[in-house]
Amino acid sequence: MAYTGDEDAAGVILDGLKKLEYRGYDSAGIATVSDNPGLTVKKGEGKIDELDTTYDFGSMTGTSGIGHTRWATHGGVSQANAHPHTSCDDRLVLVHNGIIENHKAIAERLEDDHSYTSDTDSEIIAHYLEEQLHHGVPIQDAIEQFMETADGTFAIVLLDTETDTLYALKRKSPLVLGEADHGIVLGSDLYAIAPYTDEALFFEDDEYAIIQDETFTLYDADGREQDPSFRPFDWDVEGAEKGSYDHYMLKEINEQPQAIKRLAHSLGSTQEKAREQLAQKIEDASRVIFTAAGSSYHASLMGVYHLQAAGIEAQALIASEFKNYERVDEDTLVIAVSQSGETMDVIEAIEYSKDRGGEVASIVNVPHSTIQRKSSVSLEICAGQEVCVASTKTFTNQVVTMLSLAATLRDEDHDIAAIGDEIAAVIEHNIDRVQTLASELEDADDIYVLGRGSTYPIAREIALKLKEIPYIHAEGMMGGELKHGTLALIEDGTPVISLIPTPDDPIESNVEEVEARGAHSIRVTPHGGQFDLEANEDHFALYATTIGFLLSYYIAKAKDLPIDKPRNLAKSVTVT
Ligand code: F6R
Repeated sequence: MAYTGDEDAAGVILDGLKKLEYRGYDSAGIATVSDNPGLTVKKGEGKIDELDTTYDFGSMTGTSGIGHTRWATHGGVSQANAHPHTSCDDRLVLVHNGIIENHKAIAERLEDDHSYTSDTDSEIIAHYLEEQLHHGVPIQDAIEQFMETADGTFAIVLLDTETDTLYALKRKSPLVLGEADHGIVLGSDLYAIAPYTDEALFFEDDEYAIIQDETFTLYDADGREQDPSFRPFDWDVEGAEKGSYDHYMLKEINEQPQAIKRLAHSLGSTQEKAREQLAQKIEDASRVIFTAAGSSYHASLMGVYHLQAAGIEAQALIASEFKNYERVDEDTLVIAVSQSGETMDVIEAIEYSKDRGGEVASIVNVPHSTIQRKSSVSLEICAGQEVCVASTKTFTNQVVTMLSLAATLRDEDHDIAAIGDEIAAVIEHNIDRVQTLASELEDADDIYVLGRGSTYPIAREIALKLKEIPYIHAEGMMGGELKHGTLALIEDGTPVISLIPTPDDPIESNVEEVEARGAHSIRVTPHGGQFDLEANEDHFALYATTIGFLLSYYIAKAKDLPIDKPRNLAKSVTVT
């Protein structure tokens, strides 16, 4: 996050960092420059609010500044490794997202007298540029040379304290610029700049900008001036507030009904053409491959299930493994599924596919995100901003999008808006039951979740949530696989959650197998069991998902864990 303009920079940056904290929250820092005292850098380990209490960021003076919230990759979590990083002479200070892969090779080529204060790859950028300046290279040339020299990924904002100028550079990691009434704001995504503008300039790879006196100029890597193209966006800033909820996660679970209705409306109006185009591309392709990570991969598995049911052969591949398994050709359609639209593993899978002539479509939540910009057709899931690191309403809307696509392929009407009211009822009727179950499972070390067919991806998703939020080891698996090994781990009292859409579902035999071995059997079903669920088989998977989300939430609450910002995780994973 960076700012230069009329206002106190620290206030604007602090506000932006709070919005960006979902990207990483192990350490953070802000640097500002003013006539007196000149450069001030405050940084440390911990979350933004804690650091603000310690450092009182608002007291930092100056109308230009930069800030960063970190998710450690190179170098452990420490004050020294927190950004911003400075050159030895303190003239240059910078923040960096991404990884400079050849940072060691660059360091070896630099003179010996640099003094390094961190273990990060990022710090090398400041020393490299400083050395160029000492050799009389103009700063703009030095930046272009750095971009030629550096391997890896970066979104960098550099503040030259001598000239009060910001330099913003991008390769692969997202970077966006907005013109506020009172200055220029830069951030890693729309959320950070949304309070100040409704138009954003998304940097393309290897572009950089020089920002001074509230104006900016955009260049390509060879120093040729570029025409900036601003894209309008509409983002509900108020919607990102927690309101009366204790946690964003609970708020976002409760927002599922309205998010589903918004999506249903959009797919039938503004996105109707895109939905039909995507369905046509699916029909025309000889191979359809979903690629995604984490929860979005589980939603992709649902896509495979529903497309197969609509007569389309499809597969889903974890994005980080894409290159190891895929042969893509001109007749392949790759559908990238990503909430943030910025997950680097997914972006790499897209680039790999494009290099081989494959067509790329996407299903994203964040408009204008990198993945959307790289797609020939893209559907937005219209879930609104999701702040909790664990996805809930965005997963649901990804799955609803798959249902809608499958209905389009079958040329059928599917009243997906109705799922909104059904989920509202699931929440209302089961909240007490889930809390009771949560108190029973609070001390569990392991939980197994069984599904088959359309509930297999949901079993995986519930298990992921149980790991992420209450930190319980959980496995989501196909019921049929249980007897091929995992049954050995089921003993007296082991919790096993079974997702049972119909009374005659084959998963009932797995339930019997675990119950015979003394498992604590939790049956999620509309037919008996401890929950009150509608018997709508088509949407059962989403009811079960909601039960799983609520269960993870209430177990974590009972354990007093940091629900919205679980340890070691970041919402938008922009490194590979
Ligand atoms: C799980 C979760 C992550 C993300 C994954 C992909 O609750 O949030 O597993 O699903 O990092 O992120 P996107 O969808 O932004 O590509």
